[in-house]
Amino acid sequence: MSALIEVENLTRVFDVSKPWLNRVIERLPKALLTAVSDVSFGIEENSVYALVGESGSGKSTIGKIIVGLVPPSSGKVEIDGVDLATEPEGARRAAVRENVQMIFQDPYASLNPRWKVRDIIAEPVSARGGDTEGLAERLLEQVGLSAQDAGKYPHEFSGGQRQRICIARALASNPRIIVCDEPTSALDVSVQSQVLNLMSDLREELGLTYLFISHDLTVVRHMADKVGVLYLGTLVEEAPRDTLYADPKHPYTQMLFEAAPRMDAFGRDIDPPKGEIPDAINPPPGCAFHPRCPIAVDRCRKERPRLREVGKTRVACHLAE
Ligand SMILES: Nc1ncnc2c1ncn2[C@@H]1O[C@H](COP(=O)(O)OP(=O)(O)O)[C@@H](O)[C@H]1O
Ligand code: SF4
Ligand SMILES: [Mg+2]
Repeated sequence: MSALIEVENLTRVFDVSKPWLNRVIERLPKALLTAVSDVSFGIEENSVYALVGESGSGKSTIGKIIVGLVPPSSGKVEIDGVDLATEPEGARRAAVRENVQMIFQDPYASLNPRWKVRDIIAEPVSARGGDTEGLAERLLEQVGLSAQDAGKYPHEFSGGQRQRICIARALASNPRIIVCDEPTSALDVSVQSQVLNLMSDLREELGLTYLFISHDLTVVRHMADKVGVLYLGTLVEEAPRDTLYADPKHPYTQMLFEAAPRMDAFGRDIDPPKGEIPDAINPPPGCAFHPRCPIAVDRCRKERPRLREVGKTRVACHLAE
């Protein structure tokens, strides 16, 4: 165990059954949805790990498990060698938890409209009785806004500015790790790269570690050190950034690249990859990707491929080499 964050055999199942009485009357079985299935990866300190996949692939669930908003069904997350699920409630657990903050996709929904920006930013610190004197003002300047903005309300800002406020709030408790869940996908193309640049700069200045979640391989390209590709809750490929972009090995990763072939498509709506995402409650047997895979063979319909190492890549495909 060396990485700052170690995710091991993480699985999360949601019970999406209809209410009991409906099930009895309609003779329905329980419906269980596996959002995250046996996922393992590590994030080195001061690096950016990008998790990429289509909507519904389990990205947000993994992010929420890491920050402690959702408990795993099985498997574990260790942060700096501490497993928070087994660590007793107390100072050590609180300190590790404080180390991890999350930034969400929608900066409109995640800021309380009735609070002044000063109170929003200082809240993580004031909630535990810390010193907030000048804190919001200093953080606002750090994220490229002005100290005077502390006295304003969220509605007085644009989308990009609001995401900067969310970043300032995340930084208030001096975290080491930030989980960024599609932090720019609700923003105009013109401001997306500004916010991404800010996040890159902050990582350098503050020595931060990021888990960067995105549905778009072009967005993570200039930020990520390592990229993990998720399909239906499973990690299907993982590689250092340059390796993945030069030589994607999984047919699904290749399909994602075909859907976003050019850098000038950055942030714009692109055609989604071909084929329907299958039902997560009844996933296809064998390789879950086989109904969409252009090179599937008979074995793919029967046997689930395990992640294996091919050069610097880990890939879950029977045919990858
Ligand atoms: N609280 C929940 N209850 C039931 N199903 C959920 C819940 N959260 C997520 N899911 C389901 O889990 C799957 C993965 O969701 P999510 O992690 O949000 O994916 P992503 O962020 O990649 O779009 C989806 O099928 C989603 O509908
Ligand atoms: S295991 Fe088979 S179906 Fe799955 S990605 Fe590889 S070739 Fe395609
Ligand atoms: Mg999501």
